[in-house]
Amino acid sequence: MTFSDSLRQVLNLNDLEAQARQHLPKAIFGYVQGGADDGTTILHNREAIERIRLVPRILRDVSRCSQEVTLFGQRFASPFMIAPMGASAVVAYDADNAMARAARAARIPYILSANAITPIEEIGRSYPGCWFAGYQKPDESNIEGMVKRVADAGFSAYFLTADVAVGSNRENNKRNGYTMPFRPTPRLALDMARHPAWLWRTGLRTLRRRGVPKISNIDPVERPSIFSREISAVTGYASFSWKHAEMIRRHWKGALIIKGVLSPDDAKMAREMGADGIVVSNHGGRQLDCAPSPMDVLREIKAECGAMTVLADSGFRRGTDIVKALALGADSVLVGRPFLYAAALGGQKAITHAIGLLQREIHINQSLLGVETCGALREIAQV
Ligand SMILES: Cc1cc2nc3c(=O)[nH]c(=O)nc-3n(C[C@H](O)[C@H](O)[C@H](O)COP(=O)(O)O)c2cc1C
Repeated sequence: MTFSDSLRQVLNLNDLEAQARQHLPKAIFGYVQGGADDGTTILHNREAIERIRLVPRILRDVSRCSQEVTLFGQRFASPFMIAPMGASAVVAYDADNAMARAARAARIPYILSANAITPIEEIGRSYPGCWFAGYQKPDESNIEGMVKRVADAGFSAYFLTADVAVGSNRENNKRNGYTMPFRPTPRLALDMARHPAWLWRTGLRTLRRRGVPKISNIDPVERPSIFSREISAVTGYASFSWKHAEMIRRHWKGALIIKGVLSPDDAKMAREMGADGIVVSNHGGRQLDCAPSPMDVLREIKAECGAMTVLADSGFRRGTDIVKALALGADSVLVGRPFLYAAALGGQKAITHAIGLLQREIHINQSLLGVETCGALREIAQV
């Protein structure tokens, strides 16, 4: 089957996961798909989205539907964006650039992770003005240096990933042999050899063209290789607290967004410290298992947000999912795993295909709901 044939069979974002499962080594697929502990939060994320029903309104003129949204003063084509995902370039060749370019062409935001393999400066050229998600050392001079690096690369928004005080318990990684730092083992080698398309198109191609992958954006200067012991701490720092978030606020002049909020009290603290936005998120079920879904808490959190922009993520796959989040008060939604699967299957072209699928679904949903703008989605009834 040609690449175009397999892409034609991808009719929605869920189809990407099935194809990626075949294509990727088990350890790498598990790293992307998996969650913490028993994965109950991943399941609950879907249940919480699915149980909401939307009430369509009829006989309204919907011939001029627009799904455009304005976030932090910028106009975007659609109410969704590509979530920050670390180590993406291990999953797909040059994944960060592929996602950044596809997002830029489609006029949606792309958020680069601190844990990414591709340096901030390179992505700043692929998508000038795009957004960054950082984990920071609890140290003011390090914070200042990192903020300067992000600003110098031309990024316009800084997301502080705040739900990573420690690395979570990912048993599937242990079972499949995925480790960070990366440890080549005979089992991993066999896993990769069983997936020759990934080995050729991603593993070997990355080493040949881009060298040994490095975690490029966790420090103003240091770029440890994925084999280095130093990177065991990249998921965050236990002593990082609100006072360090305030340091970022003091040094960063652009939009500051706190990612990983699930409590109205934390939303209030984010507002009081001068954040411009929050992401209501349980990290796609990858941090605290048994955390609520953003859908359980969105309305209550929105009530605490005042003028802050409210974003949400964790489990959104369909246009209807996104419409539901907007109806509950979100301004836009982050989508993670499906875009990384798309990158693995077919690079920028497949990501563009996935973006188009979601845009088409949102257009159909808006029209059937009788709502011409994203703002007006707040008024639709749910049961
Ligand atoms: C492979 C992978 C790596 C991730 N790395 C990061 C990261 O470095 N920083 C971060 O803020 N969130 C990270 N996330 C979480 C996403 O930004 C997002 O919150 C989550 O994936 C949304 O859920 P979804 O994948 O179900 O759409 C990662 C998610 C995945 C799947």
